[in-house]
Amino acid sequence: MTRRAAIVGNWKMNGLKAQIAEARALAQAFSDGLPDGLISAICPPATILAQLAEAFEGSPFAAGGQDCAPQASGAHTGDISAEMLADLGARYVIVGHSERRADHGETDAQVRAKAEAAQRAGLTPIICVGETEAERDAGRAEEVVASQATASTPDGALEAGAILAYEPVWAIGTGRTPTLDDIAAMHASLRTALGGRFGDDAAAATPLLYGGSMKPANAADILAINGVDGGLIGGASLKAADFGEIIKAYATI
Ligand code: PGA
Repeated sequence: MTRRAAIVGNWKMNGLKAQIAEARALAQAFSDGLPDGLISAICPPATILAQLAEAFEGSPFAAGGQDCAPQASGAHTGDISAEMLADLGARYVIVGHSERRADHGETDAQVRAKAEAAQRAGLTPIICVGETEAERDAGRAEEVVASQATASTPDGALEAGAILAYEPVWAIGTGRTPTLDDIAAMHASLRTALGGRFGDDAAAATPLLYGGSMKPANAADILAINGVDGGLIGGASLKAADFGEIIKAYATI
């Protein structure tokens, strides 16, 4: 059985309108298509999502949001619903990124509600999980990630196409990455945990991305790990050239 693979860029809170030039450059560079079996999306700030979706029209790239509210609409000043993201042309949305868990105190239950909202609106959620450095040092990384993943993923979400991303908090934006063996071990244990909760078939079909300081120089090694089905890329997604190199690295594995 072939799992889907995905390379997704997370621009975080970076990018004014001029940044759309990078999306145009990507669309141009891959006008002949993406490597076989690969899907790719960029998740820009919501302020430029509509422009990004427009720049990607007719290209193999999709647009995504970085977060969504659990509610469809209503009195929630400043929040953006999954329906609104879909209305702007998004097809994906990241939920439960560790920066939102840390900066906004998002719990697994809230992340799960956001993932449900995403699927209700027809978006594919990319559910993020990952341990802190202290949790890894205490030997609890796999247990923490399993617990986050099973509690943040709604029933039926995997069958409906949800994607998960393993992002060790200490590897995000730091230039540090786990060893290839550690990533392989985590992806295997994460898939086992998902299988225990949601069934082995659903877990086997689910793309598990790695995120945290992935860049052109390490992408081929990480993407080649058995059980790693793509990447969630922060800093290295801001430049079309770097993100393009990562996509090309996928094509070599
Ligand atoms: P990074 O971020 O690639 O800049 O480490 C990854 C992420 O947070 O999704």
